[in-house]
Amino acid sequence: MFKYIIDEDLELRLISMEDSDEFFNLIDSNRTHLREWLPWVDGTKSVEDTKNFIKSSMNQYGANNGFQAGIWYMDKIVGIIGLHQLSWYHKNTSIGYWLAEGFQGKGIMTKACRAVIEYIFITLGLERVEIRCADKNFKSQAIPERLGFTKEGVCRNVENLYGNYVNHIVYSVLREEWV
Ligand SMILES: CC(C)(COP(=O)(O)OP(=O)(O)OC[C@H]1O[C@@H](n2cnc3c(N)ncnc32)[C@H](O)[C@@H]1OP(=O)(O)O)[C@@H](O)C(=O)NCCC(=O)NCCS
Repeated sequence: MFKYIIDEDLELRLISMEDSDEFFNLIDSNRTHLREWLPWVDGTKSVEDTKNFIKSSMNQYGANNGFQAGIWYMDKIVGIIGLHQLSWYHKNTSIGYWLAEGFQGKGIMTKACRAVIEYIFITLGLERVEIRCADKNFKSQAIPERLGFTKEGVCRNVENLYGNYVNHIVYSVLREEWV
């Protein structure tokens, strides 16, 4: 099982079925916050939807195709970080993340990203990591910028956010720039 202890308060671990209720409740109590930037929130209506997400995450991990890790802060699940897709041939992947509203502003996601990037380069041996953020999602952009990623450009109208098409800024870091 993937488990990464970041510090005494913060830990990443694979989400499993036993986390379903806690994980769904976290989404349910953060709908307004999350739906501003995440397209799947309205489709997550019940704990069954969360169970389906966890099942597909377990399949993703079982197929050696990346992972979705819960972020535990002081023994509470506060968000998630994971890999959107992974190419073993091209040796690249991209990271996605979200945090409950009340746990922003503490550096949790920057630390989680740093840990996941270490894992991607050192354990998985990949060459490139991408983070894409909506062009008005300044809190999200601050994370790759804080971590020294290069801003590569803009994909126009690439995401449908509840009928509103938004641009993505593409950030990347290469293994040779990180290690
Ligand atoms: C994007 C998101 C994860 C950013 O959360 P965040 O709390 O701003 O990011 P971090 O956890 O890295 O915290 C950084 C903040 O903590 C502060 N901080 C405190 N200690 C810190 C530390 N040790 N290291 C880094 N930052 C620290 C930083 O100054 C920054 O605060 P600021 O925004 O007031 O400058 C969050 O806003 C979110 O989940 N939004 C909704 C979903 C979303 O947008 N997902 C991303 C889609 S691309």
